[in-house]
Amino acid sequence: MPKKIVAGNWKMNTSLEDAKQLAQSLKENSHQDTSSKLVVCPPFVWIHAVSEILRESNISVGAQNCAATASGAFTGEISASMLKELGVEYVILGHSERRAMFEDTDAVILEKCKQALAADLQIILCCGETLAEREAGKLEDVLTTQLSAVLKGIDQLTSANLVIAYEPVWAIGTGLTATPEQAESAHGFIRNLLRELLGNETGEEISLLYGGSCNATNAASLFERDNIDGGLIGGASLKSADFLKIGNSW
Ligand code: PGA
Repeated sequence: MPKKIVAGNWKMNTSLEDAKQLAQSLKENSHQDTSSKLVVCPPFVWIHAVSEILRESNISVGAQNCAATASGAFTGEISASMLKELGVEYVILGHSERRAMFEDTDAVILEKCKQALAADLQIILCCGETLAEREAGKLEDVLTTQLSAVLKGIDQLTSANLVIAYEPVWAIGTGLTATPEQAESAHGFIRNLLRELLGNETGEEISLLYGGSCNATNAASLFERDNIDGGLIGGASLKSADFLKIGNSW
């Protein structure tokens, strides 16, 4: 069975004080026996403070990006090994906002994934179609292209270092959640692709998260589907009670 994971993508939100309070509240109110693994991904600059607060908890810390290279003259970049030193365990790569706004092409994402693995970070690899692509019947092509670029380029991927997040671009931050049927259908397709590219055993063990306006109200109806093993949560991860409720949606 794939691990159940609920990851919060704080994006470029929170002040330092907000981030500390949110981490503290999550720590105090999450119970050791939550039904899923919780991960929070704060902005880079708050990772140290958040890691310190969550050190003795069952909540893991992730980053929202990492550099495509290991070290050197790359002004403004943050390497995967630097994140590892701060206690980071996961890194979100291939998020649609980075694909659309920061030139994260499939080739760049592949390099970032290699860096993440070299630093012993677990990858949360995002994929998803725009509304125009969905309407043009290209959903499966888009998912195949985005995922194959990484899955065919690296040979040591396993359920211990890879999580997939299906995030339809039209559902992110819009309040337009994919229906459980739409999400399950995409997840079923991804599951088959993983089986084909990584073998049945690995393909069946990798956690598939849904992301895109997932919240405390709709999470349970999504997570009850066979191939939806949790969520990547943006807006609703900024409220401790909502995030914890999503983490207990099974
Ligand atoms: P949202 O964002 O939950 O605010 O739609 C999800 C994401 O971008 O990961």
